[in-house]
Amino acid sequence: MKPSILITGGAGYIGSHTAYLMSQSGYNIIILDTLNHKQSFDHNWATLIKSDFADTKVLKNIFSNYNIKAVMHFAAFIEVGESVKNPLQFYENNVVKTVQLLKVMLEHNVKNFIFSSSCAVYGSPQYLPLTEQHTKNPISPYGKNKLMVEMALEDFNIAYGLNYVNLRYFNAAGAMPQYGLGENHDPETHLIPLVLRAAMENKEFCIFGDNYETKDGSCIRDYVHVWDIAQAHKLALEYLQAGNTSDSFNLGTGEGFSVKEIVMAVEQICCAKINIALKNKRPGDPAILVADPKKASDILGWSTQYSNLDFIIRTAYENENTKNFIQNKSSTQKDKEKSHNYNKI
Ligand SMILES: NC(=O)c1ccc[n+]([C@@H]2O[C@H](COP(=O)([O-])OP(=O)(O)OC[C@H]3O[C@@H](n4cnc5c(N)ncnc54)[C@H](O)[C@@H]3O)[C@@H](O)[C@H]2O)c1
Repeated sequence: MKPSILITGGAGYIGSHTAYLMSQSGYNIIILDTLNHKQSFDHNWATLIKSDFADTKVLKNIFSNYNIKAVMHFAAFIEVGESVKNPLQFYENNVVKTVQLLKVMLEHNVKNFIFSSSCAVYGSPQYLPLTEQHTKNPISPYGKNKLMVEMALEDFNIAYGLNYVNLRYFNAAGAMPQYGLGENHDPETHLIPLVLRAAMENKEFCIFGDNYETKDGSCIRDYVHVWDIAQAHKLALEYLQAGNTSDSFNLGTGEGFSVKEIVMAVEQICCAKINIALKNKRPGDPAILVADPKKASDILGWSTQYSNLDFIIRTAYENENTKNFIQNKSSTQKDKEKSHNYNKI
């Protein structure tokens, strides 16, 4: 039987890019996703099962019928602000259900797990760039969820021999529109798509805080192209399959860009001037978050190939254009259908 990988949240942004890369690397891809963003997933290189990733019956079926070599766990609720308002839902989806998934995995003797963790596990930086040894003091329920799963994995490793890699992403960005893949969150809260939409739709863009202790007063973040993140998953799986020790790795570039620099780069690429509205700082937003990616480079052999800002913004721009084209096409189709129905009456 062909080796398979179970990818939870594989119809989401980062999961879909990784799923495609793994399919191109010879794996049979099984995706479990509830399509929370009402996104369409129309690809023939994966089997999509529209289900909750903690549905025991569905999981047992998958583990019994496919030769699952590893689970890559992307599925989660991802909005930090929402996690503050609705912690119950976040703890349930991101922590309780993940433990349920691990339980069924162990019952079927599937022991390789790659977890989508986050730089949110660190909290406010005590030094920069952030290394994996930095104190873990998450500020939001979302960050705490990620840290709790990391802690459970450590215990499950010792007690049950579960092998894991925690990949702590910084800011995932960019797209691979040539493969029909891109960022498609509903609602969208990520900076680059929001700045692009402001430029493309001539809308106001809000900058939250411009008196941070940074070069231009706006927050600095580390943007890493989603295709580089996908490559890290492949390397992490090879690392586990070679019998290496379970571990955690930062995925970032080591370089930061400010919100104002992103706005300027988008203005250049879109040839548009963006209307800026300055707003108060948001609580819990550190001035700078930048990764030290040395450990992933030294141990996994990972390096960023696609994460230059120009490529990130150009691919994200192309993705926004493609989505608009599809939306316009489907509304034209709906209009045609409406007029067709009208004609019938
Ligand atoms: N995007 C980033 O910059 C970033 C940064 C750090 C960490 N992460 C983590 O990476 C992972 C993927 O992020 P993303 O941006 O691709 O998010 P996404 O929302 O695009 O993808 C997550 C997918 O999981 C699915 N899902 C959620 N709960 C589910 C459930 N109970 N059962 C089945 N499917 C479920 C959603 O439908 C969605 O398609 C998440 O775990 C996120 O916390 C993302």
